[in-house]
Amino acid sequence: MLQVDEVIRRRLHSQVALVNQISEYIVGAGGKRIRPRLVLLFAGALGVEGPHKHELAAIVEFIHTATLLHDDVVDESSLRRGRKTANALFGNAASVLVGDFLYSRAFQMMVGLNRLRVLDVLADATNVIAEGEVLQLMNMHDPDLSVDDYLRVIRYKTAKLFEASARLGAVLAHAAPAVEEACATYGRALGTAFQLVDDLLDYEGATQELGKNIGDDLREGKPTLPLLLAMSRGSEPERQLIRHAIEQGEVERLPDIVTIVRRTGALEATRHAARAEAEQARAALDLLPTSPQRDALLYLCVQSVERSS
Ligand code: IPE
Ligand code: IPE
Ligand code: MG
Ligand code: MG
Repeated sequence: MLQVDEVIRRRLHSQVALVNQISEYIVGAGGKRIRPRLVLLFAGALGVEGPHKHELAAIVEFIHTATLLHDDVVDESSLRRGRKTANALFGNAASVLVGDFLYSRAFQMMVGLNRLRVLDVLADATNVIAEGEVLQLMNMHDPDLSVDDYLRVIRYKTAKLFEASARLGAVLAHAAPAVEEACATYGRALGTAFQLVDDLLDYEGATQELGKNIGDDLREGKPTLPLLLAMSRGSEPERQLIRHAIEQGEVERLPDIVTIVRRTGALEATRHAARAEAEQARAALDLLPTSPQRDALLYLCVQSVERSS
């Protein structure tokens, strides 16, 4: 990961001062770096040597960072990684444009790797992420969203990049198709678990620990699984309160809604759904030879679900 960090710093460079300032601002805040870790762990588990894996790990982190810059504009968020968001500090226009810089820098780096499969996987992933974000936009303020439609959004907007990161470790290793698919399955399931937990932490978590404002999903009128489950389990007045909050994006009733979400067991049920996804991820690792990297991937299954930050 230190080598990945070195690549990230070197490749961030631009002749344009504001590009450097904003990209260093968000990258400098850190982040958990889960996606580049997946690239390195799968590549390592499958015996890949050499610098390509570090380059590829930096590429997926750039794509992730670009989506965060854009996401915080779309979500009108003011806190990320424990700091003011780039949009809060530098404005929406600068955030969107530097997000574009990071996306396109990632594609320049991919071309440098000279592997068409890498370009194929990441072109596909970035396209699906964009579709996921647009799908989610269409679902805003809709309290009648089905659980399947909710899951489709999170598979697109979040799980797809986890899937691509894991798959690319296998691509670098020239792994057999069945092994590549197992890696992809792990990434998809882990990414789904990860977003389910992100959605529950928006009700259960602490702003300090998360480095993001909790309650943002409700403010936006985003029908996530904790709310969908609380509506199906709650009393008629509780259901009406949540419906109204989703339709209006009312954050004033957040404390009442958190109480309902807790009382109905919707948070525990969301975590349960995340555990089931993590279990699928774990099972996909059966195809991989035993190694310290595989142990770390097993540990990530637990950590992604039981996390509080
Ligand atoms: C945030 O991703 C966006 C989601 C998919 C929930 P991370 O939680 O991986 O963000 P950082 O990189 O650690 O800040
Ligand atoms: C994150 O979605 C997914 C992408 C960035 C594509 P969210 O909007 O749910 O994530 P946070 O909570 O802002 O990190
Ligand atoms: Mg957001
Ligand atoms: Mg969002």
